Amino acid sequence: MNKRKIIIDCDPGIDDSLAIMLALTSPEIEVLGITIVCGNSPVEMGFENAKKILKQMNRLDVPVYMGEPRPLKRDYVNALDTHGADGLGESFLPEVPGYQQEIGAVDFLSKALIKEKVSVIALGPMTNLARLIQKAPAAFNQIEELVSMGGSFKSHGNCSPVAEYNYWCDPDAAALVYDTLHQNGKMIHMIGLDVTRKIVLTPTLLEYICRLNKETGEFIRKITKFYFDFHWKWEHIIGCVINDPLAVAYFLNPDICQGFDSYVQIETGGITLGQSVVDSMNFYRKTPNTKVLTEVDVYAFFQLFLSRILGLEPEKLDILQDLI
Ligand code: RIB
Ligand code: CA
Repeated sequence: MNKRKIIIDCDPGIDDSLAIMLALTSPEIEVLGITIVCGNSPVEMGFENAKKILKQMNRLDVPVYMGEPRPLKRDYVNALDTHGADGLGESFLPEVPGYQQEIGAVDFLSKALIKEKVSVIALGPMTNLARLIQKAPAAFNQIEELVSMGGSFKSHGNCSPVAEYNYWCDPDAAALVYDTLHQNGKMIHMIGLDVTRKIVLTPTLLEYICRLNKETGEFIRKITKFYFDFHWKWEHIIGCVINDPLAVAYFLNPDICQGFDSYVQIETGGITLGQSVVDSMNFYRKTPNTKVLTEVDVYAFFQLFLSRILGLEPEKLDILQDLI
């Protein structure tokens, strides 16, 4: 099988961690490296958390690169209120020593993208990608496929009435990425809140995971408990919305989500700062730069997610349909 090469740019982060687990257990893809950006956690914490996930997955062969410590222009606002003081649900997993790389995230992205066909799955604020555009525009233009968990079309925001965290945290970076894609005639796949809000890891699903594989299940329980409590407190949801794994699942199987092509621009100021403005009616007569995903097959997602992280054939998940 010809593996598709990817780089995961992320801000681990609880759901980022679940996304990394899915990517590492999917034979279709080869994770060339993980680049860390300031977001849920400060970049140093995200670097440490990525190593903790790699150690849990016995995959410390995958390099992790430190990226941008702050947004292009805005003051940096983390999301530790959502992800816990350690950025991993206050699981306080043991530190993984060493593992420092000689180069940073942007240089790694630049070298990898110029060398061969590589896709990027962006799960955090787009600061690293924006710096890549500024430093090595040809490398950015070489991205084979760019999938972003971020933005929102018609679903309400999670940082303001209209803005989703990844694009709200660094709107200038997101705007530069979307504008550059438009100028280059390229597309981004926007896995926004319209679809990710439908991906809820419930207590029942978590119990099912634990019964199928106690070690994996208990690890997921450990890093998501804080996230469950957060969701009950602020959104009165029993469970937690796991945004980032959907971006990886969509990369693996695009049929999991449906949507449409549109021109999208990111607002960089005022009350709508961070909003992904989707010109679905083509008022601006601009060439589309985005595939906006709006529908998701929730069962197909969980069947893929569980079968991969648990190492089971999909048909073994015989009662999953009843649990969705
Ligand atoms: O808005 C949700 C997104 O912001 C997810 O990627 C989450 O991990 C945070 O980065
Ligand atoms: Ca994230």
